[in-house]
Amino acid sequence: MRLYVNIDHVATIREARKTDEPDPVRAAVLVELAGADGITVHLREDRRHIQDRDVRLLAETCRSVLNLEVAAEDGVVDVAREIAPFQVTLVPERREEVTTEGGLDLASPGVVERVARATRRLQEAGIRISLFIDPSPEAVRASAELHAEAVEFHTGEYAHARTLEEREREVARLREAAALAVELGLAAHAGHGLTYENVAAVAAIPQLEELNIGHSIISRAVFVGMERAVQEMRTAMDRGRGVQARGTAE
Ligand code: PXP
Repeated sequence: MRLYVNIDHVATIREARKTDEPDPVRAAVLVELAGADGITVHLREDRRHIQDRDVRLLAETCRSVLNLEVAAEDGVVDVAREIAPFQVTLVPERREEVTTEGGLDLASPGVVERVARATRRLQEAGIRISLFIDPSPEAVRASAELHAEAVEFHTGEYAHARTLEEREREVARLREAAALAVELGLAAHAGHGLTYENVAAVAAIPQLEELNIGHSIISRAVFVGMERAVQEMRTAMDRGRGVQARGTAE
C-alpha cells in the first residue's frame, strides 16, 4: 500500500507570515527520505497555501511522484497541464471551506460536465486522473463512465464517526466501494481525516492501494520531526494491513 504525504500545511505555516519558510519543497525531500511513495499538494483556486511556484519546483525535484489536487476549473487545470504531474486528483472546492468537505457531486450534471472536460484535457496531456468521491456505488459507477484511472474515497465520514456502529458502517461502505471500483477497472485510493489512531481499519481494506494523508503527519512532525512522523504513519498502516514493519526481522 502506497503512502502519499500531503504537505499543504507546511505551506499553510509559511503563508501565515507570507514569508519564505518553511518551504514545502524542502519538506518534500524529507518526506521522500523517510520512505513515502509520493507527494500530494492541493493548488487551491484561492492559493491559500500551496503556490504555483511550489508546484513547479516540486514537479522538477520530486524523486517519487507528484499527485496534484485541483478543482475541475480551467485556470488550475491549465497549470496542471503545463506542469504535467504523474497524477491529478480532481476535488470539489468551495472558497469558504476550511478543508475539502466531501467528494465530487457526480449526481449533478453541471459537476459531471466540468469533471469530464477537466479529465479529457488532463488525459490529453498524459496525466493519470483520480476522482475524489464519496464511497458510494453511484459515485464509483459515474467515475468509471468518466474514464478516470482511479478514485480516491473521502474518508471524512469514517474519521468523524462518533460511535463504533457508525465507524463500522463507514468501513463497510469503504470496503464495498473499493471492491466495486476494482471490479470496474479503477484503482482505489482513500484519504482525508486519517490519523495514527484511525488509519488501521482503512489500511486493512485489501483493494485500497494508496492513502493520502496530510494534517495528522504534519502535526506530528512539528513535535518529532518529519522523518519520524512519516515512518510512524507507515508503521501504523502496515500494522492495519497485517504487514510486518519494514526493516524488522521476518
Ligand atoms: N485527499 C484529498 C483529496 C484532500 O483534499 C485532502 C486534504 O487536503 C487529503 C486527502 C488529506 O486530508 P488530511 O489532511 O485530513 O489528511
